Amino acid sequence: MSIDVRPSEDADKYLATDQLVWFGEVTDADAHHLRLGLPEDQRFVVDLPDGPEDHHAGIYGVRPMEMSLPGGAVVPIAGLTWVGVHPDSRRRGVLSAMMTDHLTRTREAGTAISALHASEAAIYGRYGYGMAVLTHQVDLGRGTTFTAPHLEDEVAGITTHLVTMSDAGVAERMRACQVAHAGDFPGTIIGSPDFFSLLTLEIPENLRDKERRRVIFARRGGEDVGFTGLRREHKWESARPSGTVVVGTFTGGPAARLALARRVVDLDLMGTTKLENIGADDPLLGWVGGPRGTGDIKTWDSTWVRLVDLEAAWPLRTYETDCDVVVEVEDRYAPWNAGRWRLTATSGAGQAARTDAEPDVTLDVAVLGAGHLGHSTGGLLRAGLVREHRAGVYAELARAMRTTLEPEPSIGF
Ligand SMILES: CC(C)(COP(=O)(O)OP(=O)(O)OC[C@H]1O[C@@H](n2cnc3c(N)ncnc32)[C@H](O)[C@@H]1OP(=O)(O)O)[C@@H](O)C(=O)NCCC(=O)NCCS
Repeated sequence: MSIDVRPSEDADKYLATDQLVWFGEVTDADAHHLRLGLPEDQRFVVDLPDGPEDHHAGIYGVRPMEMSLPGGAVVPIAGLTWVGVHPDSRRRGVLSAMMTDHLTRTREAGTAISALHASEAAIYGRYGYGMAVLTHQVDLGRGTTFTAPHLEDEVAGITTHLVTMSDAGVAERMRACQVAHAGDFPGTIIGSPDFFSLLTLEIPENLRDKERRRVIFARRGGEDVGFTGLRREHKWESARPSGTVVVGTFTGGPAARLALARRVVDLDLMGTTKLENIGADDPLLGWVGGPRGTGDIKTWDSTWVRLVDLEAAWPLRTYETDCDVVVEVEDRYAPWNAGRWRLTATSGAGQAARTDAEPDVTLDVAVLGAGHLGHSTGGLLRAGLVREHRAGVYAELARAMRTTLEPEPSIGF
């Protein structure tokens, strides 16, 4: 049975389907979420002949976003989001039809890369998305010390200022900081101005028993040089204050991050600082002396990357070492990528060219997505997820794709 995917014509039904799939509390404010950062022409739906009647069988949406790549280029990407299939329609190929539709539309729009955050690890690999960025959740005790002797001069010139996230102008300041630093932190995903309005929207239902979310800006010479978002929660144990402050992504250069980190472990009435999004090579892990310098540390996947148009995507980034490898690419959902490519990197510049030469390596397009932001993919050969036809050639490819520093995790979207 062929499944038709088409643009949404009914915003209420689209929203109702999302609310059914995600079974959260439905509030009057939810329509805002639909409007902010999810353009009307980027909402897509599936209906099946046998229903459901009052909902769609499946929906997805695309946020127009940008992402920084190794070398500093900031390129447009399709931010895949709002993916959901009605409980009655699941496991009948609705998601597969929507993914085929998404990849075709994205390529036609001239966008080379799609990216997402996955609700479950097993869903998106089959569609050619590779797990491209790791993130840590790090707990720190109050008063944790950070040691960074060569940053101290720079940190001395930085001050920090707490404001309320929903205040006028804060979303614009946050976005400006992110734009300014994205090139230095490849993997950063920059949302549209509307998306930042969504991020800073404070709906009453989310405020029960909670304070309004705050932002601490780092400033130098009257200019914003970084920020992080946070929310404090009260807790009293044996009459002693032992609250938790949950802190979002850090944005800014290393000195600004250090000033912000010191501030968030030194908030009155807090016992624990929970940092939600710390990259695998974030300087913070060096400042505390490694994992056991934290109270707790957990690792999981952040951004998944899909090369929608391999030929266009390969040269968008730079490469730290040279390579010249013939790759047989398997790509069931974007057949225009499938087949033999000569992937080269010379003095930093990459080129992907069609070839009839015998392949050195056979791999799924997801492997190239996993490595596109610089994340190490060398281990996939040992894991049996890559087939090598000429010994040592996969290492050449993996070495060229990886970067000295692991990529930056992104804010959830
Ligand atoms: C995840 C979800 C979108 C899958 O939709 P679906 O229409 O059932 O998927 P399909 O029928 O197209 O499945 C395609 C393949 O993926 C597999 N698959 C789908 N969801 C999976 C999951 N959560 N875990 C493992 N495999 C999964 C199917 O088994 C099927 O495999 P096959 O091709 O080998 O038979 C749906 O279950 C859902 O809406 N879940 C809740 C919301 C959610 O998690 N959305 C994703 C947001 S990032």
